[in-house]
Amino acid sequence: MADLGFDVLAFDIDAERIASLSSGVAPFFEPGLNDLLTKVLATGRLRFTTSVEEVAEFGDVHFMCVGTPQKVGSNAADLRHVSAALDSLAPLLTRPALVVGKSTVPVGTAALLAERLAQLAPAGVDVELAWNPEFLREGFAINDTLSPDRLVIGVTSKRAEATLREVYASLLSADVPIVVTDFATAELVKVAANAFLATKISFINAMAEVCEAAGADVTVLAEAIGHDDRIGHRFLRAGLGFGGGCLPKDIRAFMARAGELGVDEALMFLREVDAINLRRRDRTVDMARELAGGSLQGVVVACLGASFKPNSDDVRDSPALHVAASLQTEGATVRVYDPEAMANASRLFPTLHFAQSVDDSVGGADIVMLLTEWNEFCALTPDRLAPLVRSRHLVDARNVFDPAQWRAAGWTIRSLGRPSL
Ligand code: UDX
Repeated sequence: MADLGFDVLAFDIDAERIASLSSGVAPFFEPGLNDLLTKVLATGRLRFTTSVEEVAEFGDVHFMCVGTPQKVGSNAADLRHVSAALDSLAPLLTRPALVVGKSTVPVGTAALLAERLAQLAPAGVDVELAWNPEFLREGFAINDTLSPDRLVIGVTSKRAEATLREVYASLLSADVPIVVTDFATAELVKVAANAFLATKISFINAMAEVCEAAGADVTVLAEAIGHDDRIGHRFLRAGLGFGGGCLPKDIRAFMARAGELGVDEALMFLREVDAINLRRRDRTVDMARELAGGSLQGVVVACLGASFKPNSDDVRDSPALHVAASLQTEGATVRVYDPEAMANASRLFPTLHFAQSVDDSVGGADIVMLLTEWNEFCALTPDRLAPLVRSRHLVDARNVFDPAQWRAAGWTIRSLGRPSL
């Protein structure tokens, strides 16, 4: 927003985070973000604060961007942070304002929050709620924010729509499509989009299971069906499956909400989407065990990757760490290495063993596992790794390597959804 020319005051309850951001350092890894922060901080248009009073006085528009994680012990979304944000802001508003929700929430939440905003705002202060879901991908966050595929705004008045059209004027003049709708549809667009993406990934991973049984190659199958424009190539990469802070918990929260609405049958297929996805993790561990000759006890395994996907240091529900932890539970000595996610991974799994580099991870390994497709790992060659390892065994859980090339160099390679020979 500051880059688009607005004056922005950003609030968080975490003082350490605010201090770090004020000095131009984002609290997570996102390509280009520190440079952009430094650039806009220098303009004076972006400041940070831990004072709700200050933001309440400052803003014409308030974006609420807090997380909605999975509730402990349930599939539903935990709305604590959204409620806390609204409850702390609303009573302090002193002048006309539009409060805009960006969080991914169960359908029906915005309507409840709008009522709550009206109750909590001081009498006579003209405030309104809008819902504007966020579709950015980690690793592409800046581009996805400044050049999104589409804008979706859920509003209950022309005035709220006009305000958001003004906020996004420069994107709209660049022909970014905008869909203006009601709260419920806006909320559902977000979860429906994530459910579709998760389904697409699990579809190709289901094909991978069939390919493994039939001796076929899922990467070729994906290429061939993707040529059909109606199917397309994107999100058809078979492998270890999806993780992260969005797709897994969003499909579960969507199922939970459908149950509350009495339409659980409509989303029953998402249960299978989730199950297919989780089975790929087990299958990856099976492949390592098979390569080890039936038992992982005492086997040294290099785990390349910890983040849930490349170009992110996010390890929430990371398939890579799930696999590393399972290997260790079966008695393997794992050595996890990731270019950016080491700090987060060691906080979440303090008992895993971490390596300092690719060479440190792979040195003396009985099995090398490619779990997250960072460029640094994709560029590895059989000749580069051969002198380092104890045995030339590779599990390519992201289908990035050419099996023929590794086999020709004397490696035994197993890939998800491809013939094992
Ligand atoms: C996702 C949505 O893409 C985004 O629109 C939404 O706002 C938030 O959730 P993100 O979680 O950043 O974004 O990651 P995404 O790029 O969608 O990848 C999700 C997971 O799917 C990753 O673990 C990735 O490795 C996996 N994936 C993706 C596949 O396994 N195969 C694919 O073909 C694509």
